[in-house]
Amino acid sequence: MIKKNVQDAINAQINAEIYSGYMYFSMASWFDSISLTGFSHWLRVQALEELTHVQKMSGYLNERGGRALMKAVDAPPTDWNSPLACFEEVYAHECNVTELINKLMDTALAERDHATVSFLNWFVDEQIEEESNTDAVVQKLKLVEGNKGGLFMLDREMDARTFVMPPELAGVF
Ligand code: FEO
Repeated sequence: MIKKNVQDAINAQINAEIYSGYMYFSMASWFDSISLTGFSHWLRVQALEELTHVQKMSGYLNERGGRALMKAVDAPPTDWNSPLACFEEVYAHECNVTELINKLMDTALAERDHATVSFLNWFVDEQIEEESNTDAVVQKLKLVEGNKGGLFMLDREMDARTFVMPPELAGVF
């Protein structure tokens, strides 16, 4: 059975993952309001991915004899000064999530909870991709700064992202 302090730390991360999704839905709504619907599509896919992270953690706690406990979620921002400012915040947020996952891993290691260490390795790897993908958008937005045609083309590229349900969650949602 999972130790209470490890369960509490995973539950705190569940809250952070839900906040991530909530913030990405908020950002998607802002992009919709300025007619950049490819960006909003990309962010909604990102928000759905965050919800799969929540379910992975929730399912893991359940398997270990623990329980996911939902707490209040902070309100995310609602407005940004520019697409670039918004995606700089996405990238900074993902870097912060990486730190949270690292701290969670530290807790699991300190408790010699090898099952949780093994479970969290997926998230450690995932954060490499999360940082890389969001930084790539920041860099592209910098390239097209002040160029409306370039921004329009980038918006179309962002629209091509598809949500892929992780196979292990296929029957859960
Ligand atoms: Fe669940 Fe974007 O980290």
